[in-house]
Amino acid sequence: MTPLDLAVLCDPVTRCPLEQRAQSLFSGPSIYRIEEGIPIFAPAPDRLNLKYQRMYDRIAPLYDFAEHAYKRIVKRDIRAFLSDAFELRPRMRILEVSIGTGANLRLLPSDAEIHGLDLSMGMLRACRRNLRRQHREAILYQGEAERLPFRDNTFDLVFHVGGINFFNDRRSALQEMLRVARPSTRIVVSDETEKVVAGAYQRIPFVNRYFRKRTAPVTSPAELLPPETADVQCTLVNRDKLYCLTFRK
Ligand SMILES: C[S@@+](CC[C@H](N)C(=O)[O-])C[C@H]1O[C@@H](n2cnc3c(N)ncnc32)[C@H](O)[C@@H]1O
Repeated sequence: MTPLDLAVLCDPVTRCPLEQRAQSLFSGPSIYRIEEGIPIFAPAPDRLNLKYQRMYDRIAPLYDFAEHAYKRIVKRDIRAFLSDAFELRPRMRILEVSIGTGANLRLLPSDAEIHGLDLSMGMLRACRRNLRRQHREAILYQGEAERLPFRDNTFDLVFHVGGINFFNDRRSALQEMLRVARPSTRIVVSDETEKVVAGAYQRIPFVNRYFRKRTAPVTSPAELLPPETADVQCTLVNRDKLYCLTFRK
């Protein structure tokens, strides 16, 4: 497993540097445990983040199976649009916010330094298994997109796929992605449109209970970006099932 690089990390709350002693990271009075090689930055999320952490912990063992089954039905690469959006170059340092089981790893160059954060330890464990199977390396972190444990201006590409519609605080998550990206870096954010949430998730038994009681339809979070954000573009992809929002720091 790739060792932690303290030069890219910071305390997600105070943004002060972290120190490692044995199986913990320290910053002033804050202590973050490292479990199974993964630093735990958000052990007790609240509200929507708690609800979806539980949901993803439960569905983690089925996630890849469901993706393969869906691909066989639609008979096309449902992630191809991401490769076009990424602007890949050699030897990039890349952050996937909400890496899940690592389904996007195959789109990333083998010489990239990959960092993946997710709220769900279930998804991160599945990701680690997939990394081993694919003989790939990535550094994994448990945490919240709204408070990233990374220093300012650290990554050459920051992207997120599939969770932001139901984050506690979408505006903070976007601001965090901008903060940790290097100047002029492309940031890519994609999630399902209302067509999928209302048309599929609210109808699938067991899954539907996580999507009831919504107060508003899902929309792209483009309007939550700070006014100084450059090159903001939002397109619909995969037959209008996903939006793909790109912008630049
Ligand atoms: C649909 S999965 C997508 C996983 C992966 N990005 C992919 O494309 O397959 C959504 C992921 O978002 C994560 N997630 C949900 N809320 C989060 C939050 N507030 N901060 C970080 N990750 C979150 C979930 O644990 C889950 O792994």
